[in-house]
Amino acid sequence: MILFENVTKTYPRTTRPALDDVSLEIPRGEFAFVVGTSGSGKSTLMQLVMKEQDATRGRILVAGRELDRLPERKVPALRREIGCVFQDFRLLPNKTVFQNVAYALQVLGSSRARIRQTVPETLELVGLAGMEKRLPHQLSGGEQQRVAIARAFVNRPPVLLADEPTGNLDPDTSLGIVQLLDRINRTGTTVVMATHDTVTVNAMRKRVIRLDRGVLVSDMEAGDYTTGSIPRVRLDEPDEAPRPLGADTPDVADGFDDADPTAYGDGDAGAEVDSDALPPIGRDADEPRPRGGIFKRHKAVQTSDR
Ligand SMILES: Nc1ncnc2c1ncn2[C@@H]1O[C@H](COP(=O)(O)OP(=O)(O)O)[C@@H](O)[C@H]1O
Ligand SMILES: [Mg+2]
Repeated sequence: MILFENVTKTYPRTTRPALDDVSLEIPRGEFAFVVGTSGSGKSTLMQLVMKEQDATRGRILVAGRELDRLPERKVPALRREIGCVFQDFRLLPNKTVFQNVAYALQVLGSSRARIRQTVPETLELVGLAGMEKRLPHQLSGGEQQRVAIARAFVNRPPVLLADEPTGNLDPDTSLGIVQLLDRINRTGTTVVMATHDTVTVNAMRKRVIRLDRGVLVSDMEAGDYTTGSIPRVRLDEPDEAPRPLGADTPDVADGFDDADPTAYGDGDAGAEVDSDALPPIGRDADEPRPRGGIFKRHKAVQTSDR
């Protein structure tokens, strides 16, 4: 789903790279933490995935797209597949909870009917049913972050990036937010969360990618913390192999075929999340479960309102 090969990012007019020769692979359906102190390159990594920044060297693949070959006109399609959540929530202050979440669908041209159905479903999923009419300032920090997560997830993106989403929250609230991200992950969405909140990280038993001054210094599989985590072994077969550039691929600019909806990886525009089938938050966080969550992912379906 996300592949970095020897990626270096050096910002203009700086000497030390913000990311230094980073290679990693985050398969579809995984939940990964990116940890490291302030300035270690976490946000840079996130911005590279969204193509808000370009790598100075190396290769990045996201949902089958090779980002340095991705033409500008295809960046919006990439971003539609990536939900983003930030430390400072970034809600529209004069819009209600419902409007804040609906907005994300409106900009995609969704129909009113779809918005009326999907927004309440998503608010229920994040635990905010009944708060549709409130304004952001009438919510706690944790509730505001849930609105932001609902907005990021309302079009069911295959990838959700969360950059220090608990940075402004107290520990108990933080845990609730991470458990919500875990719940979203179990619908099949790949979740990458940057944080320096070690308590939360340790509570979750997930993969932990550690950066130190731009260098990837460790990458631990979700381990049994009683025996210690085990170093992650690189998989031989990437989850998202780049599409071959050949005669059978009509649109070769980025190896990505606009005409083929299945080429959009596992975007599940037509899939519905059955919130009744979701595991209760917090109760079974420690239960072992198969990779990819409890859902079989739906194939991408092009719907008229996308
Ligand atoms: N737009 C930018 N221009 C120049 N330097 C930057 C920019 N963004 C980040 N940096 C530098 O890159 C390094 C990594 O920053 P960042 O990715 O924000 O780390 P983190 O999110 O882990 O705090 C820092 O040294 C920071 O000062
Ligand atoms: Mg940061």
